[in-house]
Amino acid sequence: MTMPVTYDLEDGIAWITVANPPVNALGHAVRAGLDAAIARFGADGGAEVAVVMGGGRLFLGGADITEFGKPVQAPSLPDVVNAIEASPKPVMAAIHGAALGGGLEVALGCHWRLAMPGTVLGLPEVALGILPGAGGTQRTPRLIGLEAAGEMIASGKPVDPEAACEMGLIDRVGEGDLRDAARRFADKLRGKPPRRTRDRPVPTGDLSDLRDRTAARTVGQVAPVTAIDAIMAATGADFDAGLAEERRLFLDLVETPQRAGLIHAFFTDRAVSKVPGLDATPRDIARIGVIGGGTMGAGIATSALLAGLNVTLVERDADSAARAAATVGANLDAAVTRGKLAPEARADPPFRTATDYNALSDTDLAIEAVFEDMAVKREVFAALDAVLRPGAILATNTSYLDVGEIAAATGRPADVIGLHFFSPAHVMKLLEIVVPDGTAHDVTATAFALAKRLGKIGVRAGVCDGFIGNRILSAYRRAADDMVLDGAHPYEVDRAIRGFGFPMGPYQVSDLAGLDIGFATRERKAPEAGPHDRRPVFADRLHHAGRLGRKAGRGYYDYAEDRRGAEDPAVTEIVEATRRDLGLTPREFDADEIVARYMAAMVNEAARVVEEGIAARPLDVDAVLLHGYGFPRWRGGPMHWADQHGLARIVADIERFAEHDPHAWQVAPLLRRLAESGGAFADLNAKDAA
Ligand code: 3HC
Ligand code: NAI
Repeated sequence: MTMPVTYDLEDGIAWITVANPPVNALGHAVRAGLDAAIARFGADGGAEVAVVMGGGRLFLGGADITEFGKPVQAPSLPDVVNAIEASPKPVMAAIHGAALGGGLEVALGCHWRLAMPGTVLGLPEVALGILPGAGGTQRTPRLIGLEAAGEMIASGKPVDPEAACEMGLIDRVGEGDLRDAARRFADKLRGKPPRRTRDRPVPTGDLSDLRDRTAARTVGQVAPVTAIDAIMAATGADFDAGLAEERRLFLDLVETPQRAGLIHAFFTDRAVSKVPGLDATPRDIARIGVIGGGTMGAGIATSALLAGLNVTLVERDADSAARAAATVGANLDAAVTRGKLAPEARADPPFRTATDYNALSDTDLAIEAVFEDMAVKREVFAALDAVLRPGAILATNTSYLDVGEIAAATGRPADVIGLHFFSPAHVMKLLEIVVPDGTAHDVTATAFALAKRLGKIGVRAGVCDGFIGNRILSAYRRAADDMVLDGAHPYEVDRAIRGFGFPMGPYQVSDLAGLDIGFATRERKAPEAGPHDRRPVFADRLHHAGRLGRKAGRGYYDYAEDRRGAEDPAVTEIVEATRRDLGLTPREFDADEIVARYMAAMVNEAARVVEEGIAARPLDVDAVLLHGYGFPRWRGGPMHWADQHGLARIVADIERFAEHDPHAWQVAPLLRRLAESGGAFADLNAKDAA
């Protein structure tokens, strides 16, 4: 086995290099190796100064997060950092690529720090449900002050080397080659006594304001505020007591379900693109065509332009094309304001509009975003088939329609795929990659490569009504609507669902999407509805009353005075009148029951989606709900949540609900099998460490 930490003495400099691909995570072997190397440096009479650095593309990516939840094997990371700091001879960190979490904490234990331009320096632990647990909450405030440390740790946001240098987090920004820059700096440190962060003055100040703001920003989460409490422990005079308090709080957080949920989400984000059985080479994509420049088309074009792709957008007529161009322009302006696009790139984007499909003749991939109507889509695909070059990919952004049927309108169905973006398409991270049976593997691989290029999370979905996300949404949305018919107020439902951790409840989401969308879907599905399917007639009545949601100023909420929407007694009247007209006797629902029904409906439908192969694995469902539907990340996703909550409990709930409505509530076979065998959805994720 190769050693993950090497020690080379060269002209009085001890080079201590960590090489543990891919990210030099500080697993047990690395910690033991670092500890041994520091001891060797101390004993090595020929070594005057030590340089700690990372081999490969970065310094250190942090603690090995696959070890969390397992017993800690000595030496612990705090002990290693303390040993580095205690060195009687000077130790410096030479940082490139990234120093994150425990990786940055190792650097803070070194006596001097140099970072190369472009390095990412951060303490992102709160995003994983923990806090910097190797001295980061104690050393950072001693270097940059309590307030700045609080902001950095509670937000988890990284800083660049220039800012870090100004703040005092590092000493120098290197120039040229990493090793040369490190050698030049190390030469100056020969013979100097160590300069220990722990010996710097005790930081003073108060973080109660930041704590309040953080609590409000991260409702429901424990790590961010706990991290601030750990930082406050640095204001006591005794450094070691501060470290002990940090360790105590860190170990508490490691044991929380939130930590498990966030780490599951971290691995899920990386696992979704590794589709079992897909190893084809993607086709080259440089020129994108977009057909239709409405809400979605303009957003998709913006997303592609922000990724540096060349875009041609085709609309029906010159006026529509001009409107689309104006929307894209406004989106790009906003991106410049937010620092997502360089002003130079804004000046002359590789973008043009056209009203003739021939403008797409050199396109590598065309994405259709016209009206949601099978006949219109098939017409558009036949037209695309006629003009696109051989080998070009044809994609549809349809929300519900059968992608295979659309593909059949062309003479090259193997080149057709669904690319289901979410609104606003240049902001939302999720991209469902909808793969009909006949699609070529390299077309699917290209779609995943495109998702990555666009900075999105691509998730493979099979063909069915609504694919993964909208199909599951229909199920939990129906559970919500049934509760409203039976006596829950839409506002009570929204409050309960926000209480669970969603940023918005289902009726707030309706207002955002527009009540016309839901109405159109109900009308489309009406012919196939059976006698037991309940229609949310109150939603139809709101629609007919012109309460279409935010865009109309009124929907479930009233937006006239309050941008976020005020509760409106008129809605209560419509809901109550609906119940009276349908002869329904309302009953009470408390928040627990609302959540139980909503989640049972979600998990049950998700189990069907997995069993039918619409989602390849449970983790694909988790990624869809996390990135497209506001599922609270710290709960890991619905499948992870279900495993934690207990599948047998969910089955028992569904059986109880079925006593009153056996049509709506039927336990999905996969859910029942797992519950009865003591299994978990996680068992079906081939590679999932959480
Ligand atoms: N531990 C274990 N595995 C890790 C890891 C870590 N800290 N960080 C990344 N990996 C794995 C990924 O899961 C992935 O595995 P895979 O190839 O099997 O899917 C592989 O390394 C490559 O990761 P990415 O695909 O993310 O590679 P990128 O080049 O895109 O990004 C990175 C590199 C910026 C380092 C990114 O991986 C990252 O942000 N990692 C997490 C950093 C972090 O949060 N560190 C703090 C850890 S907690 C801590 O340090 C606690 C301490 O305070 C005690
Ligand atoms: P939209 O109505 O805002 O835009 C459609 C655009 O297509 C219009 O500008 C229209 O002029 C243009 N168009 C129609 N026929 C055309 C043709 N033959 N050639 C060129 N342009 C043509 O609709 P929206 O909301 O952008 O939806 C587009 C598609 O995206 C639909 O399939 C929809 O289901 C899907 N979708 C919508 C989402 C949303 O939140 N609005 C989310 C995800 C998918």
